[in-house]
Amino acid sequence: MSRMISIFDTTLRDGEQSPGATMNVAEKVSIARQLARLGVDVIEAGFAFSSSGDFEAIRTIAHEIEGPTICSLARAKSADVECAWKALEGGQNVRIHTFISTSDIHLKYQFRLTRDEALKRAVEVVAQAKSYVEDVEFSPMDATRSDEMYLYEVIEAVIAAGAKTVNIPDTVGYTTPEEFYHLIQGIRKGVANIDQAVISVHCHNDLGLAVANSLSAISAGAGQVECTINGIGERAGNTSLEEIVMALRTRKGFFQADTAIVTEEIMRSSRLVSKITGMSVQPNKAIVGANAFAHESGIHQDGLLKERMTYEIIRPESVGAGKTSLVLGKHSGRHAFKARLEALGYHPNEADLNKAFERLKTLADKKKEIFDEDLEAIISDEMGRPTEAFRLISFHAESGSETKPTATVTLSVHEQVIEKMGHGDGVVDAAYKTIAQMTKTKSRLCAYIVKGITGGTDAMGEVTVTVEEAGRRITGHGADTDIIIASVQAYLSALNQLAALGSKENAGEKKVGLI
Ligand code: KIV
Ligand code: ZN
Repeated sequence: MSRMISIFDTTLRDGEQSPGATMNVAEKVSIARQLARLGVDVIEAGFAFSSSGDFEAIRTIAHEIEGPTICSLARAKSADVECAWKALEGGQNVRIHTFISTSDIHLKYQFRLTRDEALKRAVEVVAQAKSYVEDVEFSPMDATRSDEMYLYEVIEAVIAAGAKTVNIPDTVGYTTPEEFYHLIQGIRKGVANIDQAVISVHCHNDLGLAVANSLSAISAGAGQVECTINGIGERAGNTSLEEIVMALRTRKGFFQADTAIVTEEIMRSSRLVSKITGMSVQPNKAIVGANAFAHESGIHQDGLLKERMTYEIIRPESVGAGKTSLVLGKHSGRHAFKARLEALGYHPNEADLNKAFERLKTLADKKKEIFDEDLEAIISDEMGRPTEAFRLISFHAESGSETKPTATVTLSVHEQVIEKMGHGDGVVDAAYKTIAQMTKTKSRLCAYIVKGITGGTDAMGEVTVTVEEAGRRITGHGADTDIIIASVQAYLSALNQLAALGSKENAGEKKVGLI
């Protein structure tokens, strides 16, 4: 009989700590919706105390997303725990996840606390969290570099104070599968009240061992794995959700463990996270990479044609790969559009729905077939739009082998219409230079990625750009059948987000770090 392993997704918290992966509230909510469809057990929706954006995202997700438990991170500080509770209050299934380091390196150099002081703080915050909510998780940060006897003592004390889950983080990605196995076994034997809590693991991928370490911990008795879509996260990232889930599903007999994940939703989740964060998935990435199911060698192709099992251990359809469904056409009405969006998990307000429907009609005039991916590109674009400081009114470009690339852009800049013409090394360059002058942005363009969403020359093109200003990276998206228009929209979307953040900061808001 297989044990069920709880999947704790931290894409919206640790994943967001990837450089440049900052997400706005609407983007976080759309990922949370997809995570619920994927069937994760817990969504760590953010770190409530860190910013009003995180607070709002956690609050909205806790109130709107049904199914998974919604969790907020909180440092071992009373104000953090109270803030986490305020964000979660009123949600159906909610959890507070609090943490403090237990390694001497962290305690001495960073927290400047003695072991006894850290232990006392851990117990106090767990007790405080417990006064608000039944479901409390505690993490001894940098557990894998902590003294084992002290680690056992802290774990025993927080369980006695009410923690229902104790998470063992390999914060710096330092451990190895065998060592981690023994640590989890040691905790199971050395902590007297361990049967009153679930052991969770949270591995970072600095040595490329996060998935292997997590699987090893499962073999040693861990009941929850913390992971992220596409393995995104701080530095080299976290345990990749899709890899852990498919390892357990494919080798169920070996691990005697499985998860409740709806694996057919894996690919869609991966694409959504990649699009929103602007972090591309490497082509050879296991499970979700573009080449994960591509067989190049003649010998392999021959084997596959005779019997798929010869070279295929996972059916691509089982993770939702290679599947695009034709959904709507030129004559589809607003009702069908809304129903399809709802089936995909989007619940736009009337204004966003109307704007998206207008775009769908324009798209249907240009493109014969419309797929789910097209709808998702349009709706997530509309729902993710912040209040627009800069709005495109019209755009005209000229280019050719004998022509100097020229862009003429008409923008509404803070409600004032202005037009400008400029040149560049290509039309995108001409458009971006012109827009930069018109908006007076001080940001620098760091990444520009174009992707075809569906096949054919009439396919929608999706452009993702990352800009940087004052050390902060922001990602913008645009989708259109014309990639130059998509490029302009993506750039404006990033500049609008920067403008929105700038006005929040002028109003005194700042994001707090983890320590
Ligand atoms: O890596 C880590 O230790 C963390 C904790 C906050 C759980 O992310
Ligand atoms: Zn982490």
